[in-house]
Amino acid sequence: MNNAIKIYRMKMCCSRILIQTRTVLGSTKFPFPIPNRNLHIPVSRFNKTQKPYFVSSPIWPKSRVFPATCYSKQQPNYVADYSTTVESRINDKNFENVYIQGGVGGGVDIQGDGSENEKILSRSETVAEKEAWRLLREAVVTYCGNPVGTLAANDPGDKLPLNYDQVFIRDFVPSALAFLLKGEGEIVRNFLLHTLQLQSWEKTVDCYSPGQGLMPASFKIRTVPLDDTKVEEVLDPDFGESAIGRVAPVDSGLWWIILLRAYSKITGDFAMQERVDVQTGIKLILNLCLSDGFDMFPSLLVTDGSCMIDRRMGIHGHPLEIQSLFYSALRCAREMLAFDEGSKNLVRTINNRLSALSFHIREYYWIDMKKINEIYRYKTEEYSTEATNKFNIYPEQIPHWLMDWIPEEGGYMIGNLQPAHMDFRFFTLGNIWSIVSSLSTPKQNNSILNLIESKWDDLVGQMPLKIVYPALELEEWRIITGSDPKNTPWSYHNGGSWPTLLWQFTLACIKMGRIELARKAVDLAENRLHADHWPEYYDTKSGRFIGKQSRLYQTWTIAGFLTSKMLLENPEKASLLFWEEDYDLLEICVCALSKTGRKLCARGAAKSQILV
Ligand code: GLC
Repeated sequence: MNNAIKIYRMKMCCSRILIQTRTVLGSTKFPFPIPNRNLHIPVSRFNKTQKPYFVSSPIWPKSRVFPATCYSKQQPNYVADYSTTVESRINDKNFENVYIQGGVGGGVDIQGDGSENEKILSRSETVAEKEAWRLLREAVVTYCGNPVGTLAANDPGDKLPLNYDQVFIRDFVPSALAFLLKGEGEIVRNFLLHTLQLQSWEKTVDCYSPGQGLMPASFKIRTVPLDDTKVEEVLDPDFGESAIGRVAPVDSGLWWIILLRAYSKITGDFAMQERVDVQTGIKLILNLCLSDGFDMFPSLLVTDGSCMIDRRMGIHGHPLEIQSLFYSALRCAREMLAFDEGSKNLVRTINNRLSALSFHIREYYWIDMKKINEIYRYKTEEYSTEATNKFNIYPEQIPHWLMDWIPEEGGYMIGNLQPAHMDFRFFTLGNIWSIVSSLSTPKQNNSILNLIESKWDDLVGQMPLKIVYPALELEEWRIITGSDPKNTPWSYHNGGSWPTLLWQFTLACIKMGRIELARKAVDLAENRLHADHWPEYYDTKSGRFIGKQSRLYQTWTIAGFLTSKMLLENPEKASLLFWEEDYDLLEICVCALSKTGRKLCARGAAKSQILV
């Protein structure tokens, strides 16, 4: 085995895990066992240099401190190339019995009242739904016999799956929701707990480690030989140290928190979020996001490619997608943190950040016809705290396409804001998730949907939904993407259409009472996705072609479709997955309390903004 490979061993049912790390440059890190995190973890976990329960046994793999109990008889064929995901998929008969129950919503009634699930059962599945459920179940990955996630893509014809044979955190969210809405919580619970364990993994790129709370982008189940006759399954996470561009997935931890809340809300299993290990996991993620730095803005500063768009696309800085996920993760965390002496300060910090963040985004990211006209007439080089043009935006920056494109009615959040830079591209996920999380005001929420409706041909066209509009072309493409052949104009991240975004869109439409809009998008997608074998993305301006390098049988396409269908069927369930305006947040203004005599910020205006 390659020395640089880090193997993470864990057995949930043993209440203990063994983490072993080997690094390059000859420095071997010693294995150390960590008890299952539902036991008390010392506060010193926040200091990543202090590893708890260190044992001095440097030899690996011989010095296995705890016998791993998750092993099977060796099967030479797949041990030889370590490609274990296929074999560890849903071959398990018992598992199949639990999951294949037929009919829409044929799962266990977790709610215990029967009513919701019975309602779902009353409609028969369409051909596309039937196939989607079969494919989703076939994409399930098991670890030690238990379902723990779904493969990113499961195309039997794909000879070069790259990392698409891994379980991605962000990709699993729609799968999780599909299972949860069907009454099947086990896979989601396992996923949440296993990824939580991976959070403790020591990650390094060239001997430098990011913060401990980082969640992996993805993980894979590998099989390693124990001896001549037995093999053992191990979880192998990727925190970005293997990913193209070596980018840390900032969105993973945020999605993890959001999914945790969804799991509890839908299943009613609130004991899960109260566990000490889960509470610690939430705090570690928050610790990373809320740590002090050089920032002047409440928005999160990240590198390019740190979210769904995981290649260079000019979104470094403060991309909207991360801000909206950050905002909703903070709201989830505030709801789930055990309120005691220890968390009081943290909750206060969260509240202040939520308030500052929503003000910042609502005020400075929002554009519509009127705002663009204001920017068009901006004075520049204003030095003072009174400046109107705070970020020194030169009006020449307003792109020509936007002047014609912006409708009279409707508006949207720009993609990014930096000093002297506004990224005017329309990023769909960031805008939709601003609606879902109430990062934008109720009026802005409606305006975003108005814009999508009036720009339907550009943003939906023949396949919902464009990941970003418009595409970068010519010199811009060359400079901003670094001449990326995968991100050519109107392809992949650069203006491609991603059907997985359907579920977030459906959720936003239901929240805003625009269910017809969601139905129109889902109807458009249904037959085509099925006929085209569930592609990852579509290309061209109107989403006409299956993407150039698009995977087929892409799981989050399949799961996004199923989740959308179930939400449409059961709109009242959607309310468990979105957030209403938090009026208390509008009262919070840290600088209003300041006694320094310096000018107070304009956040008092925020409240009146909401009420109009
Ligand atoms: C691509 C996408 C990313 C996704 C991954 C697996 O890298 O950009 O968002 O998570 O594929 O599907």
